[in-house]
Amino acid sequence: MTMPKTAAVVLAAGLGTRMKSTLPKVLHPVAGRSMIGHLMDRLAAFGAARTVVVVGPGMAQVADAVAPARTAVQDPPLGTGHAVMAAREALKGFSGDVLVLFGDTPLLTVETMQRMVDARRAKADPAVVVLGFRPDDPAEYGRLVTGRKGVLNAIVEHRDATAAQRKIGLCNAGIMAIDGKRLFALLDAVGNDNAKGEYYLTDIVAIARKKGWGAVVVETEDPDEVMGVNSRADLARAEAAMQDRLRAAAMANGATLVDPGAVWLSWDTALGRDVVVGPNVWFGPGVTIGDGVEIRAFCHIEGATIARGALVGPFARLRPGANLGRDVHVGNFVEVKEATLEDGAKANHLSYIGDSRVGAGANIGAGTITCNYDGFFKSRTDIGAGAFIGSNTALVAPVKVGDRAIIGAGSVIAKDVAADALAVTRAPQEERAGWAIKYRTRKRAEKDAAKGRAKKAG
Ligand code: UD1
Ligand code: MG
Repeated sequence: MTMPKTAAVVLAAGLGTRMKSTLPKVLHPVAGRSMIGHLMDRLAAFGAARTVVVVGPGMAQVADAVAPARTAVQDPPLGTGHAVMAAREALKGFSGDVLVLFGDTPLLTVETMQRMVDARRAKADPAVVVLGFRPDDPAEYGRLVTGRKGVLNAIVEHRDATAAQRKIGLCNAGIMAIDGKRLFALLDAVGNDNAKGEYYLTDIVAIARKKGWGAVVVETEDPDEVMGVNSRADLARAEAAMQDRLRAAAMANGATLVDPGAVWLSWDTALGRDVVVGPNVWFGPGVTIGDGVEIRAFCHIEGATIARGALVGPFARLRPGANLGRDVHVGNFVEVKEATLEDGAKANHLSYIGDSRVGAGANIGAGTITCNYDGFFKSRTDIGAGAFIGSNTALVAPVKVGDRAIIGAGSVIAKDVAADALAVTRAPQEERAGWAIKYRTRKRAEKDAAKGRAKKAG
């Protein structure tokens, strides 16, 4: 027997009014990626046969974010039940199980999706499986009204619940697995006679029961996993939960986080073995770090690749396109953007290196700046292997410094420098013997004269 397939319907058409934002709610990021992006990634891992994302009118941004998944427009959004109805056309001809997910639930795991679908396919053949959880504070979640033997009789929205129902601790996570053959018969019976005047998806439970069809609860032990994000405060809570998850995974993979709570990771941060990360380090998206790298405290790193053995920070900033080779050192107050530092290169203090290549083993002195922007265009700087750039050098791009060349400190290099040459542009030093003594004698006399005049006048 072949397993019936599962289609996923992701609801993302809600206005997210409580976020008070111009950005659609599901595009708000958690760990550097939109909430819906997390969900789509998890769905891909789960292996849904078809995915339909229900978006609201004018939500092209959401459609772009989920492409190539199919979208259906719910116009206007009239509730979660109404939203699933909007996917009717996209589900045409599909008779497997339908997993309904909320775009504002970014921490949902593949295991839970699988448990839901397994429960749907159990012998009792329930029409609806609802994911339940017991949050510390049930707040505005829908409450699950269960009967004997764990049968689910109804879901009551917080606003419509009686005082007694509000005391129920078991809440609706919003995720359902529904028999695709019975789904639309259930939805067609949903009305909007409730506090919000909306077509609630949650009503299908009582409708199923009335038809004599089964409805059951699958409970998750981890309330964080199903946390729904409706406000900025919820978003912060989801971020904290996601960070804890990512930190635990990074440590499980062999990285040391000296103070885990003070390291901020992105969904795709890849840390190798024996990487040591100091406190107060922030990783934006797109960071890959090789084995044995040390990231010292207070670094800000995004879109960067760091090869094994490198030493970064404290207080370094690596921006997109920073590419550090093996054993590279990037020290305090050094900013690297769109630049490759080849194996063993060093920039230890106070530098800006942008749109550049720094050859293997080259040394960039303190205060060196690549002047990569003329106000209109960006240009590249190319520094050869083994070159030595003296402190406080300005490299005016486009410019090339040859292999093993030496640049004298304080130079402004606007022309290419040949390999093994010395280039220095500062004015020659002058010295006048005893000049300081004469200067001080003259100045003291001037000051005494000024004091004398003031006394007379007073
Ligand atoms: C919903 C559930 C509630 C549950 C909670 C879990 C209903 C009626 N209520 O409440 O029982 O405890 O989630 O987080 O289902 N959406 C649409 N179109 C609409 C309305 C909403 O696509 O017309 C989408 C939203 O974008 C969102 C999801 O559905 O991703 C849930 O909507 P939301 O307004 O957040 O529902 P809650 O009030 O959280
Ligand atoms: Mg919600």
